[in-house]
Amino acid sequence: MAKPQIKIDYKNVTSAVIGTKDGITPRQLKSLGKKIKPLISKINKQRKAGETPFRDLPYNKRISRRVNAVVKTLRKECDYLVVLGIGGSALGNIALDTALRPFLPNPKDKQFKRPRLFVLDNVDPDQFGSFLDYIKPKLKRTVFNVISKSGRTSETAAQFMIIREMLIDALGKTGYQKRVVATTDANEGTLRKIAETDKLQTLEVPDGVGGRFSVLSAVGLFSAAMCGINISQLLAGARDMNERVSCKNFWKNPAAINAAINYHYYTHGKPISVMMPYSFELKDMADWYRQLWAESLGKKLDLNKRKVWIGPTPVKALGVTDQHSKVQLYREGPNDKLFTFLQVNNFGRDVKIGSAPDCAPELGFLAGKKMSTLFNNEKKATEYALLESKRPCLTVLFDKVNAYTVGQFIYLFEVTTSFTGALFNINPYDQPAVELGKEATFALMGKEGYEDFAKEIRSKTKTDKKYLV
Ligand code: PA5
Repeated sequence: MAKPQIKIDYKNVTSAVIGTKDGITPRQLKSLGKKIKPLISKINKQRKAGETPFRDLPYNKRISRRVNAVVKTLRKECDYLVVLGIGGSALGNIALDTALRPFLPNPKDKQFKRPRLFVLDNVDPDQFGSFLDYIKPKLKRTVFNVISKSGRTSETAAQFMIIREMLIDALGKTGYQKRVVATTDANEGTLRKIAETDKLQTLEVPDGVGGRFSVLSAVGLFSAAMCGINISQLLAGARDMNERVSCKNFWKNPAAINAAINYHYYTHGKPISVMMPYSFELKDMADWYRQLWAESLGKKLDLNKRKVWIGPTPVKALGVTDQHSKVQLYREGPNDKLFTFLQVNNFGRDVKIGSAPDCAPELGFLAGKKMSTLFNNEKKATEYALLESKRPCLTVLFDKVNAYTVGQFIYLFEVTTSFTGALFNINPYDQPAVELGKEATFALMGKEGYEDFAKEIRSKTKTDKKYLV
């Protein structure tokens, strides 16, 4: 049987559907194809030269072997799995969990026995404090996976220091060692140093793989495998997509087409990119995408060090929920957005709508229909309404949501990001602007050597009563 696939449907960005002012004409598409052709070869070459190591993750058997080995040592004694991490060290884990595990597992389901996953990607004391109260009585059945590539991220370090102390107090040094897995750089960094000193089990963030491109490494695979997600299918899906996005023919390469369309709209007055899944399972994929797109493509300098201040703004929406909130703006507000819907053809299950109450025959049109029919028709209805307002719409079609198609989706958008970065002539793999905030936090929290910087920040951010109303 053919494996399930994802496909991009780009008909509704064409001028044939929304006119020449807002749609892409066949000539424009052809010239985008010409522009991107040399970039496909360039990106394939970069890959071969080992300059984009995230591309090789789906082929790296050593990673999954190591992940499975660590999982084996812990799965039986784990009812709760807690990821401590932020940004690229958290969003992929959340997205995989929402996509590939049931919303509420049924006691008859195999998933019922798998650990419950918590990803704590914030330092809100109300949230963290209440989580500590919840988890304290369960420590013997809990595993903590602290993830930080650099090992110097304040949020993750603070969370880890709290958990480390709590575990040592409650379970002693050996108990602490048994309950923690550290995922970090193979050789250097603060977390590596702690893990070695404290003799913790470790997993590696491969060299040259940035946080937001790391979900298919141990960063995302460990929590997924612990929770019973089929990581070999996830990686197989990514390999399948690798074949498609390496294709030199623009018209057959979904990442090249996706990037070209996104680039076209950014340069034609539509700098906002809305991802709108019609699937609860895929809702956090839009969050993962938001970071991937924003941190990779929002750049001040191009590759020639010229100031370009470039970058599309990614926005997350959810079908059908946002039909009743943002769609008013999307249709009648500024025509400055490209919409990317995620649509699922076959849901894992279906629910039949009940009969209409006798007193409400006007609801008869819903009676006895499948909920999936309503869901997907609402997607079509929203798309139609947007097209009537000349808003360009792409759709990523999923045959179904499973590990294989999710692997394809992740890889497709990662490589689309590479192509879009190449079209913008920027480096999509760094994040220099995020660093200043990290440094400023060090200063404000009293790190040695940052005293003058702290003074400067305080003087700029001090509350002035004159402006308080
Ligand atoms: O994509 C990125 O590089 C960032 O979002 C990082 O993942 C994030 O800042 C966390 O960094 P680290 O894993 O070093 O703690």
